[in-house]
Amino acid sequence: MRETFSSSSGFALAAIGSAVGLGNMWRFSYLTAEYGGAAFLVLYIALTVFVGIPVLLAELSVGRGAGKGPIDAMKHFGGKRWSLLGVLFVVTGFLILSYYSVIAGWTARYGWESLVGSLPDNPASHFEQISQGIPAVIWHLGFMAIAVTIVASGIRKGIERTSLIMMPILFIVVLGIAFYGSTLDGAASGYRYYLDLNWKAALRIEVFTAAAGQAFFSLSLGMGAILTYASYLKKEESITRHALVIAVADFGVAFLAGLMVFPLIFALGLSTQIIGTVGTENDVGSIGALFITLPEAFKTMGSSGYWIGTLFFLALSLGALTSAISILEVNVTSAMELLSWSRKKAALLSGVLISLVGLAPACRIEILGIMDALAGNLFLVVGGFALSVFVGWKSIESIRNVDLSPRLRMIWIWLIRVPVPIVLSVVAFYSVMNL
Ligand code: TRP
Repeated sequence: MRETFSSSSGFALAAIGSAVGLGNMWRFSYLTAEYGGAAFLVLYIALTVFVGIPVLLAELSVGRGAGKGPIDAMKHFGGKRWSLLGVLFVVTGFLILSYYSVIAGWTARYGWESLVGSLPDNPASHFEQISQGIPAVIWHLGFMAIAVTIVASGIRKGIERTSLIMMPILFIVVLGIAFYGSTLDGAASGYRYYLDLNWKAALRIEVFTAAAGQAFFSLSLGMGAILTYASYLKKEESITRHALVIAVADFGVAFLAGLMVFPLIFALGLSTQIIGTVGTENDVGSIGALFITLPEAFKTMGSSGYWIGTLFFLALSLGALTSAISILEVNVTSAMELLSWSRKKAALLSGVLISLVGLAPACRIEILGIMDALAGNLFLVVGGFALSVFVGWKSIESIRNVDLSPRLRMIWIWLIRVPVPIVLSVVAFYSVMNL
């Protein structure tokens, strides 16, 4: 018998755990601030509704309908040829996890350094030292070991239990820091910087593609992570309701994270530093800023900074961990099905292979940047494009799983048939141009 999530909320929290990660805590806020504040929010919400949720429903319906991991699920509904799309999902997940865990390693290290009170005096040069080479390798391997242990323990005892504990902690911490931020002197200017309504900045094609890409990335779409989790979902669960819950929670945490980050930065007069980096660099540059600007803020805050910093990086690390286990599960489920390995063996061997490949981005940050541009942007979007074309035009059977009213179902099908593939191909085109 195939395992299932034991409860509805267990599945919901695991899927939210996959969606909520580094993308919510940082990428979303700086995109919003840079690209038109409240105007960007409107655009982002529209793209989540018209692109994100339709693809989310497609992944949920294929996964739950087949009750199998990505490669077998695609074969189940589309035959041998379409199982190649499942292979793309597995490869993408493999590559993403190998560098995602390096970044997660930095995060965990910062959490530790905040806790023991050794945040650096010069965050920029500190980041340079720890982000590459032996220190990065050690924390990367440690993080992978934890992820492997969780996934090896199974869906219920590993993934579900971890998410049930960690997601509420993450949520409370983000809420708490956002509340604390609102009491600081610079809070108002932080909010203004974050949410100032600016249509002129928002109504540009590059902003549109960035918003669509982020809506897509933030929901963990395009690589079969949600599909794989859904394959462990009981048949009687409503996937439409789950899709809504996941999307709302993911957006909620992203929005709150912005309310948390900007008051901290503005209260300490560090705004000039981020304004220089926001939006002008690639993801790695902005991720670097996360590890430089905020530690600087925490350092300046004295003893409250010690607590806030520790909690902040704890929340970030938990978000990264619950995302990482969902990526690993794609590989593990596939190895269990295709090679008939036990879960433990599949977790251990995929973990070791991913860790080894991750040595390259751990040693050279340029490699991390290239892997992110390829797997973390392009492959995801191509995967999502192919999946929506598949579900929209080819796989009528998997659509039956979606518990929408006939009218909404028609709207959904036409969304994934035409507008979603168009938007995703524009995003793919842009990310190729930016390679
Ligand atoms: N959604 C995650 C975040 O916001 C990142 C991510 C993208 C992801 N694709 C994924 C996580 C696939 C797990 C699986 O940080």
